[in-house]
Amino acid sequence: MVRHFLKDDDITPAEQAEILDLAIALKKDPYREKVFAGPKTVAVIFDKTSTRTRVSFAVGIADLGGVPLIMDSGTSQLGGKESVADTARVLDRQVAQIVWRTYAQAGLEEMAKHSRVPVINSLSDSWHPCQLLADLMTIKEHFGHTDGVKIAYVGDAANNMGNSYLVACAMAGMHVSIAAPKGYQPDPQVVQRAKEIAKQFGTSIEIHERPEDAIRHSHVVATDTWVSMGMEKEKQKRIKVFSDYTVTKRLLDLADPSVIFLHCLPAYRGYEVAADVIDGPRSFIWEEAENRLHAQKALMVWLERHKK
Ligand code: CP
Ligand code: NVA
Repeated sequence: MVRHFLKDDDITPAEQAEILDLAIALKKDPYREKVFAGPKTVAVIFDKTSTRTRVSFAVGIADLGGVPLIMDSGTSQLGGKESVADTARVLDRQVAQIVWRTYAQAGLEEMAKHSRVPVINSLSDSWHPCQLLADLMTIKEHFGHTDGVKIAYVGDAANNMGNSYLVACAMAGMHVSIAAPKGYQPDPQVVQRAKEIAKQFGTSIEIHERPEDAIRHSHVVATDTWVSMGMEKEKQKRIKVFSDYTVTKRLLDLADPSVIFLHCLPAYRGYEVAADVIDGPRSFIWEEAENRLHAQKALMVWLERHKK
């Protein structure tokens, strides 16, 4: 049995902590792990656009001694022409791991079901677990730990980032506070899962409507685009719905004085975040973007070591 990473809680909290510590160690000594020596190849497939994910996986696989094979659905048989199962059966005989950015979570589950090598979700409509490893690493580096740290996530909480913040931060022993308008609040099943995890740590999971209520006393404030990939047709409607959810300086001042601002990027200044916040001294977005590289390298090393 191989391990896959399709959503944040496909690993345990202890395994998450192990991967984060390895990521911090790899940032200091980037070329020490050569799990893909050979070189072995890792397939990185994109059904949606990307800058950070594409670059960080390509660089990370090369750093680990391997060769990245970047594919997209438009120029491969995947996506209509050939099934996910048949694609998995072809790939797993030749590559060490499969990284896939796609729409439906069910596609990733199907790929994992038929793959004898690890499958990594590099963003689906439901989860963005690699991003959360990078965010948690950034929090751990900055505060020295994640336990007891309070994060507020403001904006579209019904999207992949909302789901992943809830579950991954709960697993890291953090307090999680969400602010989202009605209709864009997280799926009750995801909230329930986060609450189950939080119970083990004695931490809180709060869902609010007003950003002020979520942000108060937070050590981390995060947001994401109001219009995720695949939602472009709803853009005008969403801009209206979320108009009171821009993370401004006034809102950030309600947080703990030690607050840092995070955003997975790409960012839309003047919409989900004001320019003077994202480009201001409390913003750690460039560390966060760089940490995608280190966190994903640690994940790939960990998955390679857990092959049986
Ligand atoms: N944050 C993130 O996943 O960025 P890309 O869409 O550029 O990969
Ligand atoms: N929620 C965003 C994240 C982009 C990295 C999207 O899915 O488009």
